[in-house]
Amino acid sequence: MANIRAAITGVGAYLPEYILTNEEISTMVDTTDEWIMQRIGIKERRIMKEEGKATSDMGTAAVKNLLDKTNTSADEIDMLICATITPDMPFPATANIIADKVGIHNAWSFDLNAACSGFIFALATATQFIESGRYKKVVVVAADMMSSITNYSDRTTCPLFGDAGTAVLLEPTTEELGVIDYINRVDGLGRHHLHMKAGGSLRPASIETIERQEHFVYQEGQAVFKAAVSSMADVAAEIMKKHNLESDDVAWLVPHQANLRIIDATARRMGVSKDKVMVNIEKFGNTTAATIPLCLYDFEKQLHKGDNIILAAFGAGFTWGSVYLKWAYDTE
Ligand code: UT7
Repeated sequence: MANIRAAITGVGAYLPEYILTNEEISTMVDTTDEWIMQRIGIKERRIMKEEGKATSDMGTAAVKNLLDKTNTSADEIDMLICATITPDMPFPATANIIADKVGIHNAWSFDLNAACSGFIFALATATQFIESGRYKKVVVVAADMMSSITNYSDRTTCPLFGDAGTAVLLEPTTEELGVIDYINRVDGLGRHHLHMKAGGSLRPASIETIERQEHFVYQEGQAVFKAAVSSMADVAAEIMKKHNLESDDVAWLVPHQANLRIIDATARRMGVSKDKVMVNIEKFGNTTAATIPLCLYDFEKQLHKGDNIILAAFGAGFTWGSVYLKWAYDTE
């Protein structure tokens, strides 16, 4: 029997309407558009402002968009994995809430927490269920409402993040397409540099944790920056070497969008020229789990069947990794 591979056969997304510009951020904290553009490369980001809306609403809209684009009915979905660090609530899983809101009833679902590496960890997980032959249609949602955990009085973190929901469909193929390989890594020691201090079993929410502003992203920027540059570039170079890929063989590098300087350093290390690197950080900022599928969504029309694509991510945990896939379809 021919090998079964898991191919991405569609991409959906949802972006909130509200645009938070650097100019508006400059009225909240002591910063400037020039500093943010030079040091990070972000001009604006989308923020979910609608009362009563949460990560599941962005994920739901993204899945509906995906099902619509791929002509798939909710009943056909076998499984849904949601990568997020901003669940609607600690439990139940946001994946279950999305499945309910979309009307996915013949499936099981769960959340996966790997921060900015969430999409590639969830993609690797979902791939197993397709490759094994067990499932025919698996949805990977990557959605984060970072505005719910961003401290808009901290200039070192508030310019970085945006909100978005994304979803991809994975289906089996016997062609030489889809996810070819992945290398994922973690280093738990890195947790000290990037985390949320309270709200879990270690420090449950209390008046004290609120007064100390411990329910927001805490980041030691430089330590994270250094680890991100070396780890993301190393793992992307490793997967290229493992598959004898030269830079000319790579059609697209799709890096996590945290900082334009990290993206540029990764591309340089891989020898991939700038025109082959997907970048949309300027418009959307760091949407955590959603950045990579949001790039695929944004650049979908430029992708061709058979394109060699390298995904690379780094995030809290520390978590990082790289996926080598061959794009499975042409659009229009
Ligand atoms: O996606 C998850 C992984 N996260 C990342 O990959 C983020 C990695 N880290 C970064 O991208 C960068 O470290 C930051 C963008 C967060 C910060 O840039 P940096 O070049 O590392 O700045 P820094 O933290 O070394 O700060 C340099 C200076 C400081 O002032 P002093 O102490 O030199 O006077 C900061 O207070 O820049 C100051 N600063 C700002 N100034 C104006 C920090 N944030 C701002 C700001 N506007 N928004």
